[in-house]
Amino acid sequence: MNLKTSGAEAIVRSCDGHILKQRIPKRYRIKEVDEQIRRDRTKSEAKMISEARRSGIPTPVIYDVTDYDIRMEYLEGAQLKHVLDVDLCKRIGELVGRLHTSGIVHGDLTTSNMILSQGKIYLIDFGLAYFDRNTEARGVDVHVLFQTFESTHEEHDALINAFIEGYEKTFDGAKEIVQRVKAIESRGRYRTERL
Ligand SMILES: Nc1ncnc2c1ncn2[C@@H]1O[C@H](COP(=O)(O)OP(=O)(O)OP(=O)(O)O)[C@@H](O)[C@H]1O
Ligand SMILES: [Mg+2]
Repeated sequence: MNLKTSGAEAIVRSCDGHILKQRIPKRYRIKEVDEQIRRDRTKSEAKMISEARRSGIPTPVIYDVTDYDIRMEYLEGAQLKHVLDVDLCKRIGELVGRLHTSGIVHGDLTTSNMILSQGKIYLIDFGLAYFDRNTEARGVDVHVLFQTFESTHEEHDALINAFIEGYEKTFDGAKEIVQRVKAIESRGRYRTERL
């Protein structure tokens, strides 16, 4: 067994050529509450990964779901944050456009949660995903992604423009969301200036 990561909520490891994502107990929560939360998140994540896949978004195939564990397809490849360029950003835009068209908000849209495998971009980590067609929810999704471009890449303006080009190609409501992202950014700036 090879440990991939151990974040706040889950342990992810490769096991028998598959990926095993296990939600671990949080001792600060009452036992029954903790178990309920972990069961709900596990079930919800597996469901949203499959929903996205059904809408044509590449995600890992789910092999098995138990109370706190998801066994899924191991995607051999690189996290997008390590290989990002303008062309890939346009393709990420097309992908997120399709995701939002299908009514899904990812909830943690970062370039660590995308894997380039055999030339295809896959979305993973749907633990915080949900169905929502509101401008604000979609805007926050895109805003979070732009923040990861800004914190990890110098040529972020070109990456953002490429993303928008792809996003507008696959999602009719894209312009309104891009406007909202600008509003969310200026809210953030206003808050920082006032601190
Ligand atoms: N199906 C997969 N194939 C290959 N690598 C994976 C797969 N799933 C996860 N990984 C790797 O493990 C890392 C952590 O997985 P994931 O993002 O699902 O968990 P997490 O960020 O700890 O979860 P959460 O945010 O729900 O607590 C990913 O960034 C990726 O590098
Ligand atoms: Mg993650």
